[in-house]
Amino acid sequence: MLALLKLLEDGQFHSGEELGARLGISRAAVWKQLRALEVELSVPLHSVKGKGYRLAEPIRLLDSAVLNAPGLEPAWGAHVLATVDSTNAEAQRLLVGGATGAFYVVSEQQTSGRGRRGREWVSPFGLNLYYSLVVPVGGGVRQLEGLSLVVALALLRVVKALGVEAAGLKWPNDILVNNKKLSGILLELSGDPADLCHVVIGIGLNVNMLMADDAITQPWTSLRQELGRVIDRNELVLSINEHLAHYLDVQMQHGFSVLRSEWELNHLWQGQQVAITAGAEPIVGRVLGVDDAGAVRLAVDGVERSFSGGELSLRLRNDS
Ligand code: BTN
Repeated sequence: MLALLKLLEDGQFHSGEELGARLGISRAAVWKQLRALEVELSVPLHSVKGKGYRLAEPIRLLDSAVLNAPGLEPAWGAHVLATVDSTNAEAQRLLVGGATGAFYVVSEQQTSGRGRRGREWVSPFGLNLYYSLVVPVGGGVRQLEGLSLVVALALLRVVKALGVEAAGLKWPNDILVNNKKLSGILLELSGDPADLCHVVIGIGLNVNMLMADDAITQPWTSLRQELGRVIDRNELVLSINEHLAHYLDVQMQHGFSVLRSEWELNHLWQGQQVAITAGAEPIVGRVLGVDDAGAVRLAVDGVERSFSGGELSLRLRNDS
């Protein structure tokens, strides 16, 4: 099916006969695959009598040759998949299977994309970025302090460089544009935290998605919605790699403390009244910033308190 999609990638009309000849299959088999593209992967097609078939929406597939081209910096190995349950899960399986060095997994689609706090990450085919980078953690788990905030900062730089000026951070690691979610990050540890272990840095970034089913329960946006143009996901991955390599290097060398003020400057909810859901009852306070370990600092009834986990929500003036 992917080979057929590759032929359609040029956006031009192709007859069933031509597609069959190029793939070495019958016209009936071509038709079956075209149906499967529409039904299983939700790839919309146009068909015109006498002309053939073309993609209703442009798709540029992730390309292993581009992502593994010689001379790239950083030289991280890319595992490029058509479909997978979760790129984070696949990265962990590769580690268990003995994969070494820094590598990442990207997929056109996830069938069980994992979000924070046990939520699902909706992952339709060919539209967005589902990316998991594996990084060895040599210096103990303290090295991980603030890491997810640093990843969000690196990603924010990529998004702003593309022209999404209104994008900013929401603690701990969401990227929002006008209160709509553009990207989420899920860090998972693999191995023994007391010994040599790896961190899997999972990034979900809405890229070319214009519509989604009701499974997304919060307001969302995509780069295409914000910029009004289709984004090349291969170029995007390479840019993410460059920015991540830089910020992870700073983090490994100096810790989160040197990036703290840059992070706070980009925090959309700095100084705002929020509620944090960490335990049974939400706690209301004003955001003061973050500490050197990446915990959020709130002024709660005049007293400063830090929270290292939980979910922030904005409190409007008339919220009780
Ligand atoms: C969040 O809930 O905000 C975090 C979402 C993280 C989603 C990404 S998509 C790539 C990687 N694989 C997963 O299963 N989850 C992360």
